[in-house]
This record gives sequence, structure tokens and C-alpha cells, in this order.
Amino acid sequence: MIKGFVFDLDGVITDTARFHYQAWAKIAQDDMGITINPSVNEQLKGVSRMDSLNVILKFGHRENDFTQEQKEALATKKNDYYVELISNMTPADILPGMKNFLDELRAENYGMSLASASKNAPRILKGLKLTEYFDKIVDPASLHHGKPDPEIFAKGAELLKIKPNEAVGLEDAFAGIQSINGAGEFSVGIGDPKILNEADLNFNSTAEVSLAKIKAAYAAKHK
Ligand code: G6P
Ligand code: MG
Repeated sequence: MIKGFVFDLDGVITDTARFHYQAWAKIAQDDMGITINPSVNEQLKGVSRMDSLNVILKFGHRENDFTQEQKEALATKKNDYYVELISNMTPADILPGMKNFLDELRAENYGMSLASASKNAPRILKGLKLTEYFDKIVDPASLHHGKPDPEIFAKGAELLKIKPNEAVGLEDAFAGIQSINGAGEFSVGIGDPKILNEADLNFNSTAEVSLAKIKAAYAAKHK
């Protein structure tokens, strides 16, 4: 039986990828002399702040040009700019269909937790006025491994005090689907089914997410 839902944030509840991109593009250009492009941005989805910086440095062939201290300063500078960009987020920034879906889950008393690699997740939920929907938020600082490692989604179910096979995980990134599957949870992909081909169930967009379809696919998998 499904007892709870573990959510990714970026790309599932709201679209912050565009702000991450805008912030990284500026810092990469101004402080590293690297011009990033949308395909680099794809590689940053679900990836921690410092790992994102490393992806960009590698892309620009500058991975050995900065000290740890300089890298931390660059990551802080990016975050300051990012926080400025997200400071105007409102409930209008919730992706289509997700508010209704969350209301539906709440009406049926499912546990809900957040499994985002973002340290800014509480701030973003506040802007979207969704804080009270989430019983628990995984603290990314407490994790040893990022997605695709199962740790973050395993923790998301653990915080809800439910077993992995009672949890449904929602993700828009392939690494996230791998994390959900590795944790032994039911995986719901949101986006291109060709990319998210390991998901137990896929929806093309958040607008299509349906609790009835999730329940049916979960029941079919567990019969
Ligand atoms: C999410 C985003 C990533 C981002 C990471 C860390 O997983 O998809 O692009 O790098 O969070 O976010 P933060 O807000 O902590 O820098
Ligand atoms: Mg995501």
C-alpha cells in the first residue's frame, strides 16, 4: 500500500533550473572566463552546488586552476546571486497541476517529504507557500552521496516512518529516478520518457500527473 510521497523540488514542484543556469552562467563568465550552454545546464540538474561548480570547471578545462578556498568563494557568490533571483518567487511559480496534486494527497492523508539536493529548498517552499504541505525535508548537508545514490530518497521515506516499498518518489532527472529505484521505492518520472526510461511510471509533464494513475501502476507492480 502507498503510504507516502517523496518529492524532488526543482523540475517537479517548480522550475528553478532557469535561475541556477542564469546564476552559474554569470559567475562562469565573469569569474572563470567560461561560457556555459544549455547542455552544460542539463548536467547540473540534481547535482550539489560544489559538484555543479566542478562540472563547469571541467567543461571549461579549468579544473586545476582554482584552490579549494577560491572554489568555495565562487560557489558562495553563485548562491548569493541565485538567492536574489529566487527571492521573488510566489505561488504562481508552482508548476502546472502540482498544487492540485498536493491538495489531493493531503486530503487523503499521505505523508509527504522533500528530497532535494538544494540547501535553498526551505526558502523556495516558503516563497511558493507550500511549507506546510511537507511533513519532512531531507537536509542535503546530512547526506554522504548525491543522486543517483539512493541515500536521499531512502531518507525521504525514513523521515516519514514508512518502508521504501510504501513510498512513491517523483523526479524529473534520470539520476533521480535511479536514486528512487535504488532505494526500492516506486518511481514516477516527469518529463521525456526516453530519458526517464527506468521509471516505473512516466508523465510527460507535471500537468499530467494523476494520483489515480499512480495508484493503478503501483497496484499492478505489487500484485
Ligand atoms: C538541485 C538543483 C541543482 C542544484 C542543487 C543544489 O538539485 O537541481 O541544480 O545545484 O539543487 O542547490 P543549492 O540551492 O543548494 O545550490
Ligand atoms: Mg529535479
